[in-house]
Amino acid sequence: MNKTIISPSLLSGDFGNLQADCQKINKSNADWFHLDIMDGVFVPNISFGLPVVSAIKKHAEKPLDVHLMIVEPDRYVEGFKKAGADYLTVHYEACTHLHRTLQLIKSFGMKAGVSLNPHTPISLLEDIIVDIDLVLLMSVNPGFGGQKFIKETYDKIKKLKKLITEKNTNTIIEIDGGVNDKNAKKLTEAGADALVAGNYIFKHENFNEAVNSLKSSV
Ligand code: DX5
Ligand code: ZN
Repeated sequence: MNKTIISPSLLSGDFGNLQADCQKINKSNADWFHLDIMDGVFVPNISFGLPVVSAIKKHAEKPLDVHLMIVEPDRYVEGFKKAGADYLTVHYEACTHLHRTLQLIKSFGMKAGVSLNPHTPISLLEDIIVDIDLVLLMSVNPGFGGQKFIKETYDKIKKLKKLITEKNTNTIIEIDGGVNDKNAKKLTEAGADALVAGNYIFKHENFNEAVNSLKSSV
């Protein structure tokens, strides 16, 4: 069985010294860099934008997993490609023409992801799952790090896994919000392939140990 993909979220890093945090991720067994882009409209918080993603790209030795929590994401797809995104994930709730948005992301050679808020049902993906490389299930309401994990996520993972199996796609299931060493195993058992973690990894006294504890949770 493949090991879980671990994507540390730099939202919980030190914005005054992101280069040091990039090196921590590079040197660890983590797989991706999770970058949370918030516009203060789709979510009640503003994080960072394109220039910061470009700066991180210079130091990152692993793929950039970019999570857009913004309205009208089509306007910025090309910009995020230029800034260095490898996976570009948009929110279902922010896309009126989701099919078009996914094709646009793929036309730039990026992997296309769709994120669902906690209240958004898996069934809404039935007719689009074949076009999605990654589904990012929010296990907290998006906008902030350090929130409490929502337990209904386990059932959503199982439903999504069933849909992916039925449609015979290679879609990656990624979980974002409140992930830690206590729930990681249950998440991967339910069908998660990738785990995002911000606070758990960055507030841990030993960065590598924190990554490894999630990584071995298969
Ligand atoms: C929340 C972000 C998450 C966040 C996770 O809107 O999408 O990626 O950084 O942080 P933790 O792991 O602390 O819940
Ligand atoms: Zn995120």
